[in-house]
Amino acid sequence: MIDVEVHQVEVEVWSVDLGRERPEHVRLLSASERKRRAGLRREADRTRFTLGSVLAKVAVGRRLGFAPERVVIDRTCDHCGRQHGRPTLPGCSLALSISHSADRVLFALTEGVPVGVDVERVRADIDPAGLAQRVLAPGEAARSAAEFFRYWVRKEAMVKATGDGLRAPMSDLTVTPAAEPAGLLRYGPRPNLRASMSDLTVPDGYAAAVAVLSASPILVAAVDEL
Ligand SMILES: CC(C)(COP(=O)(O)OP(=O)(O)OC[C@H]1O[C@@H](n2cnc3c(N)ncnc32)[C@H](O)[C@@H]1OP(=O)(O)O)[C@@H](O)C(=O)NCCC(=O)NCCS
Repeated sequence: MIDVEVHQVEVEVWSVDLGRERPEHVRLLSASERKRRAGLRREADRTRFTLGSVLAKVAVGRRLGFAPERVVIDRTCDHCGRQHGRPTLPGCSLALSISHSADRVLFALTEGVPVGVDVERVRADIDPAGLAQRVLAPGEAARSAAEFFRYWVRKEAMVKATGDGLRAPMSDLTVTPAAEPAGLLRYGPRPNLRASMSDLTVPDGYAAAVAVLSASPILVAAVDEL
């Protein structure tokens, strides 16, 4: 018998609600993160931003054996140079992604493989027809808000893994039907892209997915202990 070892990409996924914020978390932020935080008008936005940054610092610090406040996240926007772009860890082989929606904040960490994570609150008040045109590719169809947001998070996780963000029209991406396990079928602007994705378990009323730029299947290690 031949033993075939299937390589997997391990993705550490942290998921917390906004109630996990503590006053001391602000002290873990860098000067530029504090400035960005101070510029956010709504308290919930400040909490989401703080928790995303803190999850990243605690998880990366734990992995590298550093105190969280020593973890420096670079967010240089490749469009305008400001500190609001894709988060990276300069000089380190770890890759990370942050997402927040309503009461939930998610963080994903991989080694040596770009990663993207997305969480969205499933809203029933959307205009599915109008949004479907912008989000769904030909052949994709959502029969409910839950299915629509399943497509949405898979696609957004993908464009965050590539770093394209929403500059890549979501309708240029085709993913597996919402009722099937997550997978990329076609990425218009990047036809040779090799990627894997996985839906994530989140509380009722949310949808979430993670994507990596690797053909190997994803193994999720869930953490919620901030
Ligand atoms: C990235 C993006 C898809 C996130 O969408 P969203 O649903 O609003 O927000 P999410 O909560 O899921 O993700 C936000 C996180 O994505 C990350 N992010 C930002 N730009 C990113 C990019 N290009 N690729 C991957 N991740 C990115 C950040 O960590 C951000 O969290 P932060 O608040 O800690 O900075 C969207 O904001 C986007 O496309 N931005 C880029 C648009 C652009 O380039 N504009 C030019 C500005 S000059």
